[in-house]
Amino acid sequence: MNNVQCVILAAGQGTRMKSQRPKVLHQIVGKPMVQYAIDAATSIGSRRPIVVIGHGAEQVQNTIGDRVDFVLQVPQRGTGHALLQARAKLDPGCTTVLVLYGDTPFLSAATIQRLLDAHYAAQAFLSLVTFTPHDPALYGRIIRDDHGRLLDIVEYKEATPEQRAIREVNSGIFCYQTSWLLEHLDQLQPRAGHGEYYLTDLVNIAAREKAVTATCSCDEAEVLGINDRAQLAAAERLMRDQINTRHMLNGVTLIDPANTYIEASVIIGPDSIIYPGSHLTGKTAIGRECAIGPNTIIEDSQIGNRVKIVASMIEGSVIEDHVDIGPFSHMRQGAHLSEGVHIGNFAEVKDSTLGSGTKQGHFSYLGNATIGANVNIGAGTITCNYDGQHKHPTTIGDNTFIGSDTLLVAPVNIGHDAKTGAGSVVTHDVADGTLVYGVPAKVKSDE
Ligand code: UD1
Ligand code: CA
Repeated sequence: MNNVQCVILAAGQGTRMKSQRPKVLHQIVGKPMVQYAIDAATSIGSRRPIVVIGHGAEQVQNTIGDRVDFVLQVPQRGTGHALLQARAKLDPGCTTVLVLYGDTPFLSAATIQRLLDAHYAAQAFLSLVTFTPHDPALYGRIIRDDHGRLLDIVEYKEATPEQRAIREVNSGIFCYQTSWLLEHLDQLQPRAGHGEYYLTDLVNIAAREKAVTATCSCDEAEVLGINDRAQLAAAERLMRDQINTRHMLNGVTLIDPANTYIEASVIIGPDSIIYPGSHLTGKTAIGRECAIGPNTIIEDSQIGNRVKIVASMIEGSVIEDHVDIGPFSHMRQGAHLSEGVHIGNFAEVKDSTLGSGTKQGHFSYLGNATIGANVNIGAGTITCNYDGQHKHPTTIGDNTFIGSDTLLVAPVNIGHDAKTGAGSVVTHDVADGTLVYGVPAKVKSDE
């Protein structure tokens, strides 16, 4: 059922971040803050969310892309004003409008679902999530009558001392029956003095009409807002903890979770061990019984089973089963290491495929190369793939032995079972089973 339309309020300035960057674009575990609300909206089945933007609108739009509809709110005159800007984009054919904030990344889809369940069960016109924090601080206070019915929400700065003593507060997460909202949104009035429109005033409007309302409560931790860099760091720790715990409960060993950085999107198989200082990000999937780290960065890569990677960087690569890499090697975009490949130290591979059992043990560069199985890449081997203007390919057949310090001047093809002598500069193709050596390299029988 595509019956919920989510509006995410994200136009606020976030002054306390002291940043040129809009607050909702600051990242938590590799994801812009506002993306958490978008993902939560999507996971409860919201149709295309609407994001209200203002401060740094262009930057937000460019970062989030076209997965959502944007509404511009300039100037920002409060939460009610923000929803008023989205009014024209609300679909009357959608029964429910859900409002989320762009700066509360911990809100779970489960809590949103509980809010919707309470809303539908009561056949309410307006419903909201409240919480009862240890310190209700500056949050809007929930005012109820003697029967517990919702009467109003009063902002801290406008509250009487009795109201300030109330500990149940507004999370800002609301849902509405769309037709009711469309009929009542225009009744919001700006506050005298600063001219802000409070979205919370709809509660009082509903109470005066005796329209049915509902609430559900959630844990304080879920609706923590991020307002400054200290809260940002705390959120990062908390979020990382949650991710790491999930992996550990799934059978992954983290030697030091506090020093292991895994983004939410990463998949890791059981009995893999992640050593400290490892950063696993993006669309990375790691198989079972791997040993990763210490001090390894893996981005957007597929790693097979029983792979060992020590102190190395892997980006946009495919690493098959039983490969070992490192320390201090760099697999770049398009590296594909087949089963059992050995990569030692100071090796760089870019846009190249290495066949199974091939070895590249010591300081060497392979770019735009297709290399067969069981090839030995000698220490210091370099594919000279770039002539200053274009990249050129190198191919090497199975079982070939590339001697130490060989320069392969691309484009060049080396056959299978061939051999290059130490220090060769190979400028011409080498036939199967042939030994070449020298500068420029010549076949042995040329002598
Ligand atoms: C709001 C609530 C308060 C609640 C608290 C929970 C109102 C009047 N008050 O207060 O009852 O306890 O949230 O955190 O609603 N935003 C816009 N445009 C604006 C103003 C805000 O898009 O003009 C966005 C912000 O980017 C943010 C969210 O709305 O994501 C909340 O705004 P904020 O100013 O933090 O609201 P509070 O004053 O904290
Ligand atoms: Ca706030």
